[in-house]
Amino acid sequence: MDSHAPVLLDEVLTLLNPAGDDWIVDCTLGLGGHSQAMLEAAGADAHLIGLDTDEANVLRAKDNLGPLAKQGRFFHANFSSLPDVLEAIDRPAVDVILADLGFCSNQMDTPERGLSFQADGPLDMRLDTSEGPTAADIVNTTDETDLANLIYEFGEERLSRRIARRIVEARADGAIETTAALAEIVRKAYPPAVRHKSRIDPATRTFQALRIAVNDELGVLDELLAMLPEILAPGGRCGIISFHSLEDRRVKHRFRDLRETHQVELLTKKPIIATPEEIERNPRSRSAKLRGIQKRD
Ligand SMILES: C[S@@+](CC[C@H](N)C(=O)[O-])C[C@H]1O[C@@H](n2cnc3c(N)ncnc32)[C@H](O)[C@@H]1O
Repeated sequence: MDSHAPVLLDEVLTLLNPAGDDWIVDCTLGLGGHSQAMLEAAGADAHLIGLDTDEANVLRAKDNLGPLAKQGRFFHANFSSLPDVLEAIDRPAVDVILADLGFCSNQMDTPERGLSFQADGPLDMRLDTSEGPTAADIVNTTDETDLANLIYEFGEERLSRRIARRIVEARADGAIETTAALAEIVRKAYPPAVRHKSRIDPATRTFQALRIAVNDELGVLDELLAMLPEILAPGGRCGIISFHSLEDRRVKHRFRDLRETHQVELLTKKPIIATPEEIERNPRSRSAKLRGIQKRD
């Protein structure tokens, strides 16, 4: 069994309180850790609707759920198409929605997916490998200004212009096809003094920017946030776990707007973060932020 430690697990269960015959949507099945815990907490009458844009993870989650999979319906789908999924199963509103954004450790640790600069692999980065441009397509075809803007906006990278210039210079000698090649170009774009002072690998922000662009992460998150009032049943709860400030800011603002228009109550005034013990056990939880809302009755 693949393993992925679900982040903020107890906090998710307390916040979303899956119970009875709830209809539970896991927007990001991953390896099924949160789904399993939510079904176990809710009991045998609960129903799971599980989605993942990575088809292999849908199968893994189903497998990992074992006998609990009987309580679920599983879809290889982006959560931006959740309304279509709900329509297909004739379930207009649900009681619990969880989105645990981003990537699973099994995806990050597979060099062929090209998500990480820690190991060399093709510059792909797509979560759904059945469609869409790869990171190599973007890096090799986007003009310098647009590339700089993308790295600045999605990576919050102050050296975006220098990095874009280096990328465009490098690709004049041939397409940039691998994560190692791109990481090296980005590292060299950093002035040595800045590079030595940096606490993170200089490639970190540029890789984040490309992952966000390739998977339209902010666009699909906005779509999910927009649909919540329609698809949550009265009293229904939604929790979103984000891993960087660009996502968390969007969640925070949308949740506040929904409260100000009296559609929901906030379940979290401030985001819930991992305890020191969890961070020790699972370093990935360090940047996780969980926010929740409950639809008014
Ligand atoms: C952090 S993992 C989820 C881990 C899961 N909660 C668990 O306990 O195993 C994120 C998963 O969401 C999927 N994902 C990311 N963006 C998605 C989207 N827009 N729609 C559907 N799935 C998505 C990824 O493919 C990945 O499998």
